[in-house]
This record gives sequence, C-alpha cells and structure tokens, in this order.
Amino acid sequence: MRVGVLTGGGDCPGLNAVIRAVVRKGVKTHGFEFVGYRDGWKGPLEGYTMELGVPQVRGILPRGGTILGSSRTNPFKIEGGVEQIKDNLAKDGVDALVAIGGEDTLGVATKLADLGVNVVGVPKTIDNDLSGTDFTFGFDTAVNIATEAIDRLHTTAESHHRVLVVEVMGRHAGWIALHSGIAGGANIVLIPEQPFDIEEVCRLVESRFESRFSPILVVSEGAIPKEGGDMTLISGEKDAFGHVRLGGIGDRIAAEIENRTGKEARAVVLGHVQRGGTPTAFDRWLATRFGLQAVDAVADREFGTMMALRGTDIIRVPLIEGTGELKLVSPEEYAEAEVFFG
Ligand code: F6P
Repeated sequence: MRVGVLTGGGDCPGLNAVIRAVVRKGVKTHGFEFVGYRDGWKGPLEGYTMELGVPQVRGILPRGGTILGSSRTNPFKIEGGVEQIKDNLAKDGVDALVAIGGEDTLGVATKLADLGVNVVGVPKTIDNDLSGTDFTFGFDTAVNIATEAIDRLHTTAESHHRVLVVEVMGRHAGWIALHSGIAGGANIVLIPEQPFDIEEVCRLVESRFESRFSPILVVSEGAIPKEGGDMTLISGEKDAFGHVRLGGIGDRIAAEIENRTGKEARAVVLGHVQRGGTPTAFDRWLATRFGLQAVDAVADREFGTMMALRGTDIIRVPLIEGTGELKLVSPEEYAEAEVFFG
C-alpha cells in the first residue's frame, strides 16, 4: 500500500515523532511505501509532495516543528478543492492518508472520509482541547515551558515588588493556563471558560501584597472579563505609569491592575515559544504511540477513525469524536486552582 502523510494547522512539538513512528512501523511491519504531503491540505490539493521513507525520518524524534511543513489550507473553502485532492491522490498512487492535525485539519479529514477518501487521523494541539482523547501531544511541552517561565517570573516579581501577568496560549480552553498555573504556583489563573471580574482580581492582588509576596497571574489569551465588567483601557493608551499598553488580554489586565491598585505590573506574552523546540519525553511517547496505532489502523483499513488516548490505552474512535465539541475546563477543575488564589 502507498500511504500519504500530512501535518496541518498550527505546529506542535511531537509532530515529527508521529511521522517517524508511522513510517518506521509502516515500512517494517506492513511493507508500506510513503509519500510526504507538504504544508497540510495544500500538499494533496496542489500535488506538493516530498520523498518520505526511513532515511527521511532518521534523527527527527527530538526535533520540534514538522519536516512536512504545515498550513491552515481548507480544501472545502476552495472551489473544486475536493476533486483536486482526489485527482492528486490517484495520480500519486496513494491508497490512504494519515492526517495529523487539530480541529480544522481533522474536520477536513472527517468530511473527506464521508466522501470515500481513505483517511485516518492523529489528534494534535498544544491547547489540549480536542474531545475524544484524554491528552494531545504538544500540551505537556507547552505546559512545561510555561511553568518554567512562571518559576523564573516569581523571582523577578519578588525583587521588584511587582505584579507579573503571564499570558499563555489557549483561545477557547484554559488547559495550558490551568496546568501551568497549578504547577508554577500562580496566585490567580484566568481562563476563557470562567469570565473574570477585574475588581475581584485586584482584590486578590492586594491581599497577596498584604502577605508581602508579589502576585503572579496566569492568563489564557482567550480569557474574557465578565459581561458588564469594567475594563477601561484599550490598546495603545498610556496607563497610570505612562506605559503604552500594546494590546493582548495579559497587557490589558496588567494596565488595569496598575491603575486600580497603584502597584506596578508587567505582562509577559509567551506566544509561540510554547509551540517551538524539542518535545518533552511524555509528548514523544504519546506521539510515537499515536503514530504506531495510526499505521496499524491503515493496515486494518479502519478508515474514518482517529487515534485517542484513554487512560494509558491508545484506541481508535470515529473522527467525528475528535472534531465535535471542544473539551473545556469544568468549573470543578477550575475550583481546584482557586484554592490557591490570592
Ligand atoms: O491552536 C493552537 C494555537 O497555538 C493556539 O493556542 C493559538 O491561539 C493559535 O494556535 C495561534 O495560531 P497562529 O500560529 O496561527 O498564530
């Protein structure tokens, strides 16, 4: 069998570990040949390929990013895109596809599977917000990077008696903020699932200073103030200390804290640092096991499935399970972190 492999969406530590496992086991156990499709769905759409075999996957296990490249191309948003993909797969002699991606990439895979394309999915996102799987690879690495940053920020915050606001990734779900906040001993964690009250945040900041310690806030990029909440500052304005606030929610919260409490506050946006570089051992382990199971699913012709971690088992679930509702932080899980606030 000839199998195409692609990686789509935002990159994530562990992608190369999946590609390596798929190819190594596919060649050794199943006698498959592989074609690498470049830059997500753009690859099969434009017939943009690269050679993919055992030599190409040598030495890539600890490397971040993806040797195949990635994009957010969606063939369903391009006229004739699906037919173009089917034509190119036929031209390349590809019988099946392994699509490694998040919500959008696997959403495309789900629709293609419904249209008769032989595809299996591997879930990835640093956000850990895909339903159907207990964890996605990349998440552990992102949490470790954020935790290390929080550890470092504690000491500089203490030295200057400042508030430090750490903005982490997570547009819809607060998993990175919650896990790194707990691991790093944050004093406040703000996530998209629990709109915050800026007055309450400032009260917690002040109570932290009363015990003579400097507060660290961990904020998801998607955190939002409560409806009717009073967040006055907009980006580009000068705050009470004359700092021009540039924009993200972390920076806006820092500005509000300065203006309301008179305490100096700084914001740090971790951004893509959380996505780059070498994966942790856990992410390499999870990504490798997903890859091994995905290539077996191809051999078993169990198309339309996605690999999922349940407990310590890797199982195959319908692709739609991974692309249905997002997995969000529950109020109970958030309440665990709240015990440490202030
Ligand atoms: O979905 C993964 C993710 O890293 C989000 O946490 C983040 O909001 C987004 O991608 C950033 O996307 P981009 O790399 O396109 O800026």
